[in-house]
Amino acid sequence: MTTRPFPTRTLGSSGPRVSALGLGCMGMSALYGDADRAESIATIHAALDAGITLLDTGDFYGMGHNELLINEALRTAPAAAREQALTSVKFGALRTVEGGFTGYDGRPAAVKNFAAYSLQRLGTDHIDIYRIARVDPDVPVEETVGAIAELVEAGHVRHIGLSEVGARTLRRAAAVAPVSDLQIEYSLLSRGIEDEILPTARELGIGVTAYGVLSRGLISGHFSHDRELAPGDFRGMSPRFQGENLRHNLGLVETLRKIAGQKGVTVAQIAIAWVLSRAGRHDVDIVPLVGARRRDRLAEAVGALGVALDADDLAAIEAAFPAGVAAGERYPANQMAHLDSEH
Ligand SMILES: NC(=O)c1ccc[n+]([C@@H]2O[C@H](COP(=O)([O-])OP(=O)(O)OC[C@H]3O[C@@H](n4cnc5c(N)ncnc54)[C@H](OP(=O)(O)O)[C@@H]3O)[C@@H](O)[C@H]2O)c1
Repeated sequence: MTTRPFPTRTLGSSGPRVSALGLGCMGMSALYGDADRAESIATIHAALDAGITLLDTGDFYGMGHNELLINEALRTAPAAAREQALTSVKFGALRTVEGGFTGYDGRPAAVKNFAAYSLQRLGTDHIDIYRIARVDPDVPVEETVGAIAELVEAGHVRHIGLSEVGARTLRRAAAVAPVSDLQIEYSLLSRGIEDEILPTARELGIGVTAYGVLSRGLISGHFSHDRELAPGDFRGMSPRFQGENLRHNLGLVETLRKIAGQKGVTVAQIAIAWVLSRAGRHDVDIVPLVGARRRDRLAEAVGALGVALDADDLAAIEAAFPAGVAAGERYPANQMAHLDSEH
């Protein structure tokens, strides 16, 4: 899997230099059914070994489980890899013992409380990028971002990020302090950021860490109608994975499979390479987060870096996946309501 030297990109005009792919660790603790702990750690080690430096997590992924997993992976990694690693942490979601989500808290005192716990769980003296997962509707974003700016001032956080916010909120946040990147869903099936959000991020010098580039596995080439989902798996509630929507969306994947086959690459590699191809001038601004939790999936994802899409490939992909082609929204209605980016 070694891709040396691993390509890097800068997140926006103020953000850190990171590997051109980040590893999203969420699925190792939550939302996609059981994950194997030893394989999760081995996957993080393999990512670091390959040259991936950006590890994305959230304090609420398994209520601290994901941060503790990253702690263990970093502690047991070779020192050189550990020193290169950058943590990107989301906070703000309120959970119940049973695993429910009950809202978001972006009050300044809460931000500093969340950060204190995250630093303990991660076992690090700073977080590289810190962001609220969803803006708290009861707290002006200026106050939440201002609190992170104070953490930056104190040396506990290096950069400020945002997650799933729209253009107006991007501007309000960027007026408070430099923002390194917006984390937001972006894939062949989720192109909503192209009209307004991405141009605004570019105008403000804010990078994008794109999640769901495989649409949570739907366009990975490995998902099928008969896949059994564990209770609580996000995909069991996601509109895109239901009934007729799933049939339509998996039909699109077959077109992608043909394009991939002609190039001798996999469906997942084409889907990730397409997101990489959307980066702006000098390849600075879009870094896909891949949600691999097994070493074989990681190797496949890293292989996307070697996939060059020419104008004919891009035209064929565009014809098959015009904006809005997906059947079903990207979140259930109650979760769509929390997305500032959709209002
Ligand atoms: N800011 C936000 O609101 C937000 C929301 C969601 C996620 N995120 C972050 O973004 C990261 C990525 O999101 P995601 O996990 O939903 O994205 P994703 O990469 O679209 O989906 C991951 C899913 O794809 C499957 N998959 C199949 N082939 C794969 C391959 N070659 N490489 C990687 N995955 C493959 C995985 O499969 P298996 O079932 O085989 O493991 C997993 O179920 C998360 O880990 C999290 O850190 C942020």
